[in-house]
Amino acid sequence: MAIKIFEQEKQFHLYNSKISYVIGECRDGEIGQLYFGKRINENQIIYSYQGVAGRLDCDVKVYDENYSKEMACLEYPAFGNGDYRNSAYEVRQLNGSRVTNLVYQGYEVYEGKKPIPGLPASYVNTNSEAITLEIICVDDVAKLEVRLFYTIWENYSIITRHVSFKNIGEDEFKLTKALSCCIDLPDHDYDWIQFDGAWARERYPHVRPLDEGVTAVESMRGHSSSNFNPFVILKRKDTNEFQGEAIGVNLVYSGNFLAQAEVDTFDKLRFTMGINPRWFVWPLKKEEVFETPEVIISYTKNGLNDLSQNIHGFMNNNLVRGPYKNKPRPILLNNWEATEMKFDEESILKIAKKGKDAGVELFVLDDGWFGKRDDDFAGLGDWFVNTNKLPDGITGLAKKINELGLDFGLWIEPEMVNPDSDLYRAHPDWVLAAPDRRRTLGRHQMVLDYSKPEVVDNIYNQLYEVISKANISYIKWDMNRSITECFSQGLPAEQQGMIYHKYILGMYSLYERLIEKFPHILFESCASGGARFDAGMLYYAPQAWCSDDTDGHERVKIQYGTSYGYPISSVGAHVSASPNMQTGRSMTIDDRANIAYFGTFGYELDLNKVSDEEFERVKEQVKFMKEYRSLFQYGTFYRLQSPFENNISGIMVVSEDKKQAIAVIYNTLRTPNIGRENIKLQGLDETLVYSVDGKEKLYGDYLMERGIGFIDADEPWYKSAGDFQSRMFILKA
Ligand code: DGJ
Repeated sequence: MAIKIFEQEKQFHLYNSKISYVIGECRDGEIGQLYFGKRINENQIIYSYQGVAGRLDCDVKVYDENYSKEMACLEYPAFGNGDYRNSAYEVRQLNGSRVTNLVYQGYEVYEGKKPIPGLPASYVNTNSEAITLEIICVDDVAKLEVRLFYTIWENYSIITRHVSFKNIGEDEFKLTKALSCCIDLPDHDYDWIQFDGAWARERYPHVRPLDEGVTAVESMRGHSSSNFNPFVILKRKDTNEFQGEAIGVNLVYSGNFLAQAEVDTFDKLRFTMGINPRWFVWPLKKEEVFETPEVIISYTKNGLNDLSQNIHGFMNNNLVRGPYKNKPRPILLNNWEATEMKFDEESILKIAKKGKDAGVELFVLDDGWFGKRDDDFAGLGDWFVNTNKLPDGITGLAKKINELGLDFGLWIEPEMVNPDSDLYRAHPDWVLAAPDRRRTLGRHQMVLDYSKPEVVDNIYNQLYEVISKANISYIKWDMNRSITECFSQGLPAEQQGMIYHKYILGMYSLYERLIEKFPHILFESCASGGARFDAGMLYYAPQAWCSDDTDGHERVKIQYGTSYGYPISSVGAHVSASPNMQTGRSMTIDDRANIAYFGTFGYELDLNKVSDEEFERVKEQVKFMKEYRSLFQYGTFYRLQSPFENNISGIMVVSEDKKQAIAVIYNTLRTPNIGRENIKLQGLDETLVYSVDGKEKLYGDYLMERGIGFIDADEPWYKSAGDFQSRMFILKA
């Protein structure tokens, strides 16, 4: 990994063993995108920035007849001086002008990487892991300094980027758009993959070819959302899971975002991503700085599995923090689907005790333990224990759970308030609400105004009281509604455009304070299931509740989609009751577990209510997961066959030394009399012989070229099997 600098040409070639990213000054003093892709020779000086104009009737030529800005591949383009595509940023100056023109001034290079103040970001464990380049550009009229940050990583095919804006003049100006990146690619022969959905069906992959015009996904909900995830892939048409070129971009941010691909009529592709510019206005006074969130740009020439593995490794090593980083995650039992808010200490201890008998390690008390919280109409905002339910408080309950031999975890939803709460009665001005307008409720609750430090302080102090007095080792941080009426009461008009982003900064600051004070706590983020599953959250919470949909079959799809952009160690996955709460579908306890293993694993039901036979299986499952969880959570993960396109799908994990692997094949609907069906495995050592389930002995190359037979109509198990079956294969070299 290095950055080769051509001083005279003002060119910068960032490279590691797999990728090259070359940028340099173009004719207008702007920084152009010269090459991004597979590693090329670092001595190559590139003279073409694609800006050579053809004959265009209404074209604007900058400098001379041969150069058109709108045909150039640019790194951080403005609108208003010859480039008609979507810009990366916009600045409204005091005189009303929005024209800007950034001119290259210089650069800085250093080992390692600096944090981004107040924002989550990837980090180096040692300086030798990465090199950072800062390109400094100035608009001398607007008195704007922009720094483009690029970090190239030694071990991953990844470039991380972000941007800072500084007012270097006297007059205030307003940033009205400040995206984190622009990637101009010289052709548009790509498919776009987005990960969309809704509550209970998050992150389904959808692929469509890019063509002239704009393709975009966004959130304006105040959180990243289950509707559109802030992760997208651009892939070549012939790229599949196992071969071909692709670029993945994760935004390290949890609020409103925009990801957009614009194909112009000259066959070029401009990809931009960052904070959604809608409703974004950020005033910058003299000397003030604004930092954008970071993007993680990953590249592969070897298919989508390779792209995901690259992202998984990077997030596990350079984004997730704390004592659970790269550590097996505790097997937990959560009471939500078992009791919802109807519980008392006795019923909780009974559920926990049974969990202990099954071998789980952590009991998590979900919603309903605080304030007057007997249903979802009251209590949020009042973070003191409901002693009617828990007479000895959280302190007492945690102690009793610990005495059972379990760790104790607690649910909170700190960003919300019910109108029926002491907090709201005392501070009706602490919610986001527009003057003289209805305060829209969602799940009977409002959103606290986290742009106000005093609100964050109050919640911190309340939570501190609870957490500091009990032995809590895990917190599930929930967030159950999107923002409406985004207005901060009492704040001047000119600062209202800052609120969506300031809210996120306030939320991050609370996380940071709690982590600093209680570094031993494992956080799991949650937002009505998986409505805030993003790279920003993973910086604070190493795992995220993937979905409220715990149906085994639905989870195969949701977790398959999630795996494209996020590591298996981060996927909150539990076995719940059958028939399932969300779908009413019945599945065997083993089929439900066969997808939950590919995540943090746990249970979300009252184990006192399962049959003796099932309970024995639960004990076996917990034992099995304890033995294999490192493999599941940190092994090399492969998508073998998609459940979105096939009746039979499969995923697998392989250990680093390739001596162990586990594959699970899922059969959605049973089709009779279809003969034998093989699934080809991946990632094995061709030369090793693997025992499959301790029986067959097969070479790695055979297993990868021919595959394992999942369905054999002659097998007795299959004859009796119904729909939504799965089958696990354990391979040992
Ligand atoms: C939504 C979460 O996704 C559930 O797991 C549960 O914690 C409920 N909220 C509690 O209100």
